[in-house]
Amino acid sequence: MYNSKIIGLGKYVPENVVTNHDLSKVMDTNDAWITERTGIKERRWVKEGDGNTTTTMGVKAAKIAIERAGIDKDDIDFIVFATLSPDYYFPGPGVEVQHALDIKTVGALDVRNQCSGFVYALSVADQFIKTGMYKNILVIGSELQSKALDKTTRGRGISVIFGDGAGAAILTREEDNSKGILSTHLHAQGKFADALILKEPAMGTRWVNEIIADNNPDEAGYFPYMDGQFVFKNAVVRFSEVINEGLEKNNLQKEDINLLIPHQANLRIAQFIQRKFNLSDNQVFNNIQKYGNTTAASIIIALTEAWEEGEIKENDTVVLAAFGSGFTWGSVIIKW
Ligand code: ACO
Repeated sequence: MYNSKIIGLGKYVPENVVTNHDLSKVMDTNDAWITERTGIKERRWVKEGDGNTTTTMGVKAAKIAIERAGIDKDDIDFIVFATLSPDYYFPGPGVEVQHALDIKTVGALDVRNQCSGFVYALSVADQFIKTGMYKNILVIGSELQSKALDKTTRGRGISVIFGDGAGAAILTREEDNSKGILSTHLHAQGKFADALILKEPAMGTRWVNEIIADNNPDEAGYFPYMDGQFVFKNAVVRFSEVINEGLEKNNLQKEDINLLIPHQANLRIAQFIQRKFNLSDNQVFNNIQKYGNTTAASIIIALTEAWEEGEIKENDTVVLAAFGSGFTWGSVIIKW
C-alpha cells in the first residue's frame, strides 16, 4: 500500500469582482447584512463573453497545478473532476479536460457531491493511488454557479453566498506511509437532500421541454433552494464530528492541527468550528471574504492560496473538512 501526496496546486477565479454593494443595486440587500451573516465582502462571477465555463476554469487551474508539480501532462494516469455545475448535463467535464489538455486516453471521472465534492474527489484519487493502480492523478474542483442564481430579491437569501472559480491538485504516489494523505472520511445523509437542492430541470422528473410547455411554471423551482438555518445547524455538528473522526483515526489531538481548511460555506460556520476546537486564527484558513462559497472549488482554492502564501510547510498536519448539499460531508488528514 502506498500513500498519495499533493505535489502541485493551482487555482483560477474569473476577473469580474462583484461586491456586496454591486448586489445591492440589483436586489434588496446590503453590505452590512451579508457581512454580518456570512463574512463575504465580494465574490467572482463570470462575465458574458469572458470565455469562462466550469471546464475552462478547471483547465486553467489544472495547467498551473501540472506545471508546479513538475510533471508532463502525459504522466497523468487519471482525472477526477468535482462540480455541481457541469458545462453540459452530459458528458461531464472530466472528459472535456482530457480533450482540452490533450491528455492520452486515461479515465476521467466526474464527482457530484456539491460542497463536499473536492473532499470526495481527493478520497477517490487517494484510493486509486493507495492500491497502486495509478501513480499521478489530476483532481479538479470547479464551479460556475452565478448563472444559476436568482438575482432578484426573491433569491437574496442564497444568491449572495455563492461564487465562481476553480482549483486543481496533482496527487502522486508517496512510498513513505507517514507522509501525504493519511486518511479520508466520507459521509452522506440523503434524508435531508431537500434542504439544499436545485430541483429543475431534472431528467427523472421534469425536463426542459416540459418546463417550456408549462403555461404556469413555478419559476422559483429553477433556482437553488436552501433552508439556511437548518443547513447551518447540521453543518456545525457534522464539521466537528468528521474532523474529530479524522484526528482519532490518526491518534492526533486538535493541538496537532497546523492548518484547518474548512469548506468556505460561511465565515460564521468556520468561526464556530474554530472556537469549538480552540484553534488560533493562524490555524484556520479562510478566504470566503474574497470569493464567496465556491462549492466544490472552495477547499482547493483555499488550499492553493494557503500554500501560495507560505502558510503550509513540510511536515505540517493539514486538515480539510467539508459539509454541503446531500447532505454530504467529509474530511481529509494530510501530513504535508
Ligand atoms: N439581504 C438582506 N436581507 C436578507 C437577505 C439578504 N441577502 N437574505 C435574507 N434576508 C432577510 C430575510 O428575508 C429575513 O427577513 P425577515 O426577518 O423580514 O423575514 C431576514 O433577512 C433573516 O433571514 P434568515 O434566512 O432567517 O437569515 P439567517 O440569519 O438564517 O441567515 C443565511 C441566512 C446566511 C443563509 C444563514 O442561514 C446561513 O448561513 N446558513 C448556512 C447555510 C450555508 O452556509 N450555506 C452555504 C451553502 S451550504 C454549504 O456550503 C454548507
